Amino acid sequence: MVHYVSNYLIAAGLPKELVHYELFVTGLSEEDIKRAERLSKQNVEGTQVTIVDGGKEFTFTMSKEYDNILDAALGAGADLPFACKGGVCSTCKCEVLEGNVEMKVNYALDDKEVAQNLVLSCQSVPTTESVVVNFDV
Ligand code: FES
Repeated sequence: MVHYVSNYLIAAGLPKELVHYELFVTGLSEEDIKRAERLSKQNVEGTQVTIVDGGKEFTFTMSKEYDNILDAALGAGADLPFACKGGVCSTCKCEVLEGNVEMKVNYALDDKEVAQNLVLSCQSVPTTESVVVNFDV
């Protein structure tokens, strides 16, 4: 219902940046499900990930055990912020400084934030051989 009302308001002419809502659960769309399935098959093994957090850098190599940067970093010993791990809260937000990632789902960041290279690390799957992300945002 939240998405229905939001889409209706935008289609009726209300500027998208004025439509705000809060989600407590996600109802994945068909498009989200397909994207998430495709990205869960993305080969991330060997991807070099550098985390910038608290002004310090931490680099590790992703294994195929993980399909997102947050879980891989936590598994490698990083101490990073997160809450929902479902793409809703944005607690895990970071900025992509180098390389590329694709998010499985995004219910938290608006278009302006995405255009500023902000991503949800819990949903971010690397699509390049190395990635540098900054949590000091
Ligand atoms: S932990 Fe909530 S969006 Fe990533």
